[in-house]
Amino acid sequence: MNNTTVSSNTQKYLDLENTYGAHNYHPIPVVLDRGEGVYLYDVDGKRYFDFLSGYSAVNQGHCHPAIIKALQEQASKLTLTSRAFHNNLLGEYEKYITQYFGYDKVLPMNTGVEGGETAIKLARRWGYAVKGISENQAKILFAEGNFWGRTLAAISSSTDPSSYKGFGPYMPGFGIVPYNDLQALETALADSNVAAFMVEPIQGEAGVVIPTEGYLKGVRDLCTKYNVLFIADEIQTGLARTGKMLACDHENVRPDILILGKALSGGTLPISAILADDTIMMQIKPGEHGSTYGGNPLACAVAMKALEVLRSEKMAENAAAMGALLRSELEKLHSPLIKLVRGKGLLNAIVINHPDPEVSWELCLYLKELGLLAKPTHGDKIRFAPPLIINEAQIKEAVGIIAEALKRIS
Ligand SMILES: Cc1ncc(COP(=O)(O)O)c(C=O)c1O
Repeated sequence: MNNTTVSSNTQKYLDLENTYGAHNYHPIPVVLDRGEGVYLYDVDGKRYFDFLSGYSAVNQGHCHPAIIKALQEQASKLTLTSRAFHNNLLGEYEKYITQYFGYDKVLPMNTGVEGGETAIKLARRWGYAVKGISENQAKILFAEGNFWGRTLAAISSSTDPSSYKGFGPYMPGFGIVPYNDLQALETALADSNVAAFMVEPIQGEAGVVIPTEGYLKGVRDLCTKYNVLFIADEIQTGLARTGKMLACDHENVRPDILILGKALSGGTLPISAILADDTIMMQIKPGEHGSTYGGNPLACAVAMKALEVLRSEKMAENAAAMGALLRSELEKLHSPLIKLVRGKGLLNAIVINHPDPEVSWELCLYLKELGLLAKPTHGDKIRFAPPLIINEAQIKEAVGIIAEALKRIS
């Protein structure tokens, strides 16, 4: 058993959080104070590979110099005006991101979960105003195993008891269909009150669950057939993470509403975006939706740079190549503890083969000791999702660490 010990310096920080912070997380016991590229450093100066990337918020690498420069320059000029007034960067950003992804309009928000909320509000409004659903009858469908945050609406669509249990009553008008099941989706879509189906192209938090090839295309076709909006939650899968700019690009499908977040700021501040065409977006009128921080000039400057470097540094291409290398190197370990290696681009997971559910946690503690940070999700799965700037030598070194940690499990 790994009875990990931490330095007294580290313990001081853990005690502070334990005493004064809500206990709503169970972090790996490491205290970080610096990040650079694919590396994180703890308060004792020890270096780690970051194999979580802030749940894919740090795709561009920690403290990407161009993003930090944009942040610092804009921070010293103007940070927030609220949407009561215009700012000089909002329109430029709106033009940039809509042209980048090929939509008529964008609605800027902050966190990912607000992006989901916004998409659902938009879809409900479209359902009433365009599809002709009777007042208060609109339904939104979600896939089993979904994760899009922790607000009351998000947990109302969750099928994970640790998300929703003890927090009812829940949001009405939501329905669940099995993931990766087009037949079940078609049955559910036949209900004329359904306004939208919101789905992750790959389920990240569920443990990197990849649907069968053709699923997204099937979703697109069925949504078109039944006049239902296809909402793609690309908050974790988007922005080059899976080896394409969007995970939907793997099947050349275009969702009606696209939600982005996380890496839209390269891990510097909460920035999310909801993209749609005018027939959907123009249903929302002044005063009906917004956020004090949404579309602030600091976020606009940062998001444009975060998007620019994804393209100029060919991060999707690197994610595709390094992801393939990572999976093949992991397979080559032939470890009896690895039941399965799966992933796309640099969104990967291993499924642990051991009767004791604590083994994944133990393995992550050994990984930490050896200089690699990762975290289990849903017990037996460990996500391996480093920043997209990782190179071949670094992948090989990291897999060496993983091999050593696996050996230490008795
Ligand atoms: C697919 C997906 N959607 C939405 C969210 C929520 O994002 P945030 O934590 O920024 O609210 C997450 C967070 O992990 C996510 O993975």
